[in-house]
Amino acid sequence: MKTMDPFAIDIDLEAGIMADPKNHIIRRASDMRGYYADQQALESLIADHHDPLHYEVFEVPVPHQPGHLMYCISVLQPGSVAHECYMTKGHFHTIAATAEIYLCLRGQGCVLMKTEQGKCLTLKMSRGRMIYIPPFWAHRSVNTSDQPLVSFCVYPADAGHNYGDFAQQGFPIRIFRTHGKVHLRQP
Ligand code: F6R
Ligand code: ZN
Repeated sequence: MKTMDPFAIDIDLEAGIMADPKNHIIRRASDMRGYYADQQALESLIADHHDPLHYEVFEVPVPHQPGHLMYCISVLQPGSVAHECYMTKGHFHTIAATAEIYLCLRGQGCVLMKTEQGKCLTLKMSRGRMIYIPPFWAHRSVNTSDQPLVSFCVYPADAGHNYGDFAQQGFPIRIFRTHGKVHLRQP
């Protein structure tokens, strides 16, 4: 591995904003086709609301090599698709035996996690809460509030993202919010 010089970045912890990110990944509602239970409601959202922003990831990349740590800020907008709370696509890491840390900076929601063996767990997120996602657990963020859900994530830089068949299979639990009340549904 090549050596490199240390560097620093600034993060506004209140706002959850990384100064001068080099990569900015944007996911709109149209990138989420297949992920929500009510596909027709998603199509209406895309058509009627100009394909709204769903979530963004900001990062200053490091080499994707063993030994390095990748980190980013993930901002998931509030909203729902036929009452199903906005969520990220979710993924296993390509190198499945890699963990990840999510530190919630703003908002409220949860991380849904599942294993290949069919175990599924959800842990709540709120400002200051850190979630440790062990190796072999797929993960997805869900925003259950009316504010953006902002997390700072750290994971091995060579972990990679395996989105596999998440659009079709999803997670064994879906999260809905009706009249301000959050509830889980097992499809
Ligand atoms: C990185 C990680 C997060 C997510 C981000 C977007 O391993 O877990 O930074 O990448 O929250 O979610 P996905 O990648 O599922 O679209
Ligand atoms: Zn991850």
